[in-house]
Amino acid sequence: MRKPMMIANWKMNKTRDEALSFIYAVNEVLPSLDKVGTVVCAPAIVLRDLVKRQGDNLRIGAENMHYEESGAFTGEISPSMLTTTGVEYVIIGHSERRAYYNETDEAINKKLHAAIKHGLKPILCIGETLEQREQGVTHDVLEGQLTKDLAGLTAENMENVIIAYEPIWAIGTGKTASPEDANEACGFVRNVVKSLFNAAVAEETIVLYGGSMKPANVDALLAQSDIDGGLVGGASLEAESFLKLVNACLK
Ligand code: PGA
Repeated sequence: MRKPMMIANWKMNKTRDEALSFIYAVNEVLPSLDKVGTVVCAPAIVLRDLVKRQGDNLRIGAENMHYEESGAFTGEISPSMLTTTGVEYVIIGHSERRAYYNETDEAINKKLHAAIKHGLKPILCIGETLEQREQGVTHDVLEGQLTKDLAGLTAENMENVIIAYEPIWAIGTGKTASPEDANEACGFVRNVVKSLFNAAVAEETIVLYGGSMKPANVDALLAQSDIDGGLVGGASLEAESFLKLVNACLK
């Protein structure tokens, strides 16, 4: 049985004070981690402060990391720097990093291996552009990304990998994929995982939907058979809205 997950992606938002007020507002009222895997992914500079105050029912993740252990990579953060903060998760390959920082599938693959080696649980983001969807090549794009990004991982490694299907045209635009289209794509992702690994891995892998998920559309998305939860940007910034999304996972 896959456990539902609701993961906030704060992106480049919130000062330390804002981040702490959010944590104080949610951590007494979150459902048990056994019921919903609730995670907040935040800018690196506040991670340690958040981990200290995460409480019993919340876990913290980073939004990115480098794959090298150390070296001349100005401004970058290594996997061990992250693990010393106590974070459990790391987002890898978000479309904004692919688009604005030229992250390639090859680099994303290295990051996945590095995360797993360091005991971090990666949240791998994949998704098509509007142009690709209109050209009817969504499946090819998703299959290509998964094949390259997951190359060399074992079935055992996959126990800790979460996949977020995020159609790029739906991110931060207010446009959501219809629940049926989102489910179709998440089901396709699961099938690719089955062909790359095996049926048991596909059955256990958590596949999230991301792209303008919000309290108004969360129930319809979560009602779909292949959507195990969400990766949420805009609607995760206010505690009240994020709590609604987390609680929707209990229904
Ligand atoms: P959004 O972002 O919820 O603001 O569309 C989702 C994401 O980028 O992970």
